[in-house]
Amino acid sequence: MSLYDLVKFLHVLTVVFMAAPLYNLVVVNERARFGKAHLQVDLYFENLIRGNAIRCYIFQLTALVTGVLLTGLQGPWTLLFTNRVLLAKLLLLLVLTGLLSVVHFSLQPRIDGLLAQAEGDAIPQAIAAQIGPLRLKRKRLAATCLFLVITTVLLGVQVFSRFAAWLTFVLVVLAALFAWRVYRSRIPYGWM
Ligand code: HEM
Repeated sequence: MSLYDLVKFLHVLTVVFMAAPLYNLVVVNERARFGKAHLQVDLYFENLIRGNAIRCYIFQLTALVTGVLLTGLQGPWTLLFTNRVLLAKLLLLLVLTGLLSVVHFSLQPRIDGLLAQAEGDAIPQAIAAQIGPLRLKRKRLAATCLFLVITTVLLGVQVFSRFAAWLTFVLVVLAALFAWRVYRSRIPYGWM
């Protein structure tokens, strides 16, 4: 096993751990089925989702470091800019970090601030009405992130040998359909 193989293993493992958008969407779809929850239950769900942001930053950073290392081990660093697939992967990773930052630095603190004002057994209607649109935005961003992660995986397997353009296109469409499906349902059977 070469150093390249070892770093590639780390890179792929990191990517597996970047599945947070998938499972966060499953969690929020489960919460919707739960109906009007006790405040403590709601806070528990929020803790699960909030905690994933920091983990996600760390996995994104690891994907970047291992990706840059793989590039350097394979050829000149300039490959990062001359290999269009690598450049696209790098840009997609930066977009993912940007979307995560919107959630972590803007949406989540606003949701947390509103939840902190809630008292009693359930979230009062006036607060729930303000949290709803923020959660919807966060859910849409999570579905977008899921689509971008799948697309980046699709590019990952094409860094040095490309698929036919039509096949990449079909797989990107399937990725979008899957992200849409996860957005709408709790996918009890994995793909469905
Ligand atoms: C969300 C971010 C990323 C995802 C999901 C991702 C995913 C993947 C996947 C699935 C592979 C396939 C490994 C294999 O062939 O078995 C791969 C390979 C690779 N990735 Fe990434 N990657 C990401 C970010 C990056 C970044 C930022 C870079 C460069 C700066 C990078 C550079 C590479 C390289 C050089 C390979 C090796 C390709 C090969 O040996 O065939 N990746 N990536």
